[in-house]
Amino acid sequence: MSISSEKDLEGLRKVGRVVARCLRHMQAQLEPGITTGELDQIGGQFLEYHGARSAPKLTYNFPGFTCISVNEEAAHGVPGSRSLSAGDLVNIDVSAEIDGYFADTGGSTILPPKSRLHLRLCATAQQALERAMFEARDGAKLNQIGLAIENEAKRSGLTVIQNLGSHGVGRALHEEPGFIAGYYNKNDNRTLKAKQVITIEPFISSGANEVFDKGDGWTLVTNHGAFTAQYEHTIVITKGKPLIMTLPF
Ligand code: CO
Ligand code: CO
Repeated sequence: MSISSEKDLEGLRKVGRVVARCLRHMQAQLEPGITTGELDQIGGQFLEYHGARSAPKLTYNFPGFTCISVNEEAAHGVPGSRSLSAGDLVNIDVSAEIDGYFADTGGSTILPPKSRLHLRLCATAQQALERAMFEARDGAKLNQIGLAIENEAKRSGLTVIQNLGSHGVGRALHEEPGFIAGYYNKNDNRTLKAKQVITIEPFISSGANEVFDKGDGWTLVTNHGAFTAQYEHTIVITKGKPLIMTLPF
């Protein structure tokens, strides 16, 4: 969507704050032994209490309120009976709708003990998100987002998952301008416009370049046991720094 009024901005901020707080609320419950299904129930109750509807459930009939992806799972993990263990890399992605506005956020967390590889993945994905947000401004080519993400990955000796990426959001979970690659695509001539609402979500991996359906129709996994970290914000493009909608305050 493109922001056309103060009401739009307030609506987006409201749902953005709820998903950001939901993510942190769920992350605070992470401990060995909890199942991803239990964690998802906690997230689902949080969303309901705040008058929000799960966006993946609403949009795709996803079998969970949130997506929880563990270790070899890179995205769209279905919450269930899998119980978390010490040392797991856990990605939680929360997207929801309130009053017709959609926001999308996500983040990876490590259950101690934290391996050096997991720490490097998380630090690089966070840095990639920061760098890409810095490039995202009115008039910039959309492919500068992918370039920034790819450069951060390479600098750390890591890879980008090419078939996952950022996207338009706001009045729907996935909308115009469509898929935004996490690598440099020289053929992408689209430009960013002020007031446009998009996500930025780098998927940084320890060697994989793509994900595959695990076989359950939802969960996307990497081959060869590669790990993936992702951090995501919903932002509004301006002439300067983007406005981040998915902050908890
Ligand atoms: Co997301
Ligand atoms: Co997203």
